[in-house]
Amino acid sequence: MNKNYLALVTEEYEPNKFSRSIKTKTLGEIPENYSLVKVEYSSLNYKDALTARGHKGIARNYPHTPGIDASGIIEICNSGKFKVGDEVIVTGHDLGMNTNGGFGQYIVVPDDWIVPLPSNLTLYEAMCYGTAGFTAAICVYELIRNNIKPETGKILVTGATGGVGTIAIGILSKLNYEVVASTGKSDEYEYLKNLGAIEIINRSELEESSKKPMLSAKWSGVIDNVGGKTLSNLIKSVGMHGCVCVLGNVSGDYFETSVYPFLLRGISLIGIDSASKDKNLRDDLWIKLSKEWKIDNLVDLCRLVPLKNLDEEINLILKGGQKGRVVVKLWD
Ligand SMILES: NC(=O)c1ccc[n+]([C@@H]2O[C@H](COP(=O)([O-])OP(=O)(O)OC[C@H]3O[C@@H](n4cnc5c(N)ncnc54)[C@H](OP(=O)(O)O)[C@@H]3O)[C@@H](O)[C@H]2O)c1
Repeated sequence: MNKNYLALVTEEYEPNKFSRSIKTKTLGEIPENYSLVKVEYSSLNYKDALTARGHKGIARNYPHTPGIDASGIIEICNSGKFKVGDEVIVTGHDLGMNTNGGFGQYIVVPDDWIVPLPSNLTLYEAMCYGTAGFTAAICVYELIRNNIKPETGKILVTGATGGVGTIAIGILSKLNYEVVASTGKSDEYEYLKNLGAIEIINRSELEESSKKPMLSAKWSGVIDNVGGKTLSNLIKSVGMHGCVCVLGNVSGDYFETSVYPFLLRGISLIGIDSASKDKNLRDDLWIKLSKEWKIDNLVDLCRLVPLKNLDEEINLILKGGQKGRVVVKLWD
């Protein structure tokens, strides 16, 4: 096939030195059981920013097009599993890692990765959620599966103004949970209250260490985007049979804990891996996001940015400065 398209490309110009720019690429042949998707929208996640500046732990080979999310239209499907013109979502798996991702106008992906767009969702709304929203949905699913109910107690969400945090607060509030939001942005309290948080704490409170192995019980569930010292500390305040979803590392990769919260309160730590969720659960959660979990003001939480302006948004998310979600528009 001889079709040109535009994509953001990160290149390694010297060992471990990277640059990025918009380039013209050319599509090759579409393998058996793969589809060609014309990408209408993508979205910006923290992981995309890491590969956009070069990160061999996530994307081994360069030149590389980041973007772990895409929503768009089937142009070619050799297996007949999808029809030309079908609207679809692709998130996670290997997209934007060792497979060129959604920051290009076309992606070529295995049919198994493709989720049909639920009827109550637009392609734009799907990327308002993106991997961040899908990950938030997995966390909510895990809390429910572990018997954490609105009447069980408060849910703490750390990294609250970020992509996952924003959507998690939106879904939990919609489901009548009482959410406490932890943020480093003192000027965004109003934003978090409008999302549905009943209480807001400054993230520095969760960074203060205590020598005690346990503290008074405050949270019935936690969605933690942050890791590091914050995670070490908040584990001490999880109540009886509480549950912590561990999904992010913006402040650190390692944490410490004693065994006491596990032995005396029976708490659970649940690891969240959004990239490799099985197809049935993936399809079900996207349907929930389009129906009973759909956030009423979803599109108000997002900014639409053309591909050519993505560079500055990447720099901002790397500094922890983004609020809500950035949706990327691939075509003018
Ligand atoms: N496990 C999975 O499957 C999965 C899926 C998606 C994302 N993730 C991970 O989840 C995390 C959040 O992703 P995201 O896309 O929501 O990122 P994001 O939009 O950049 O949000 C991260 C938020 O964390 C807070 N933060 C930033 N730097 C911090 C620091 N040094 N210490 C404490 N808090 C800090 C900020 O919120 P405040 O200013 O409000 O505190 C920031 O907005 C990332 O680590 C990402 O890699 C994992």
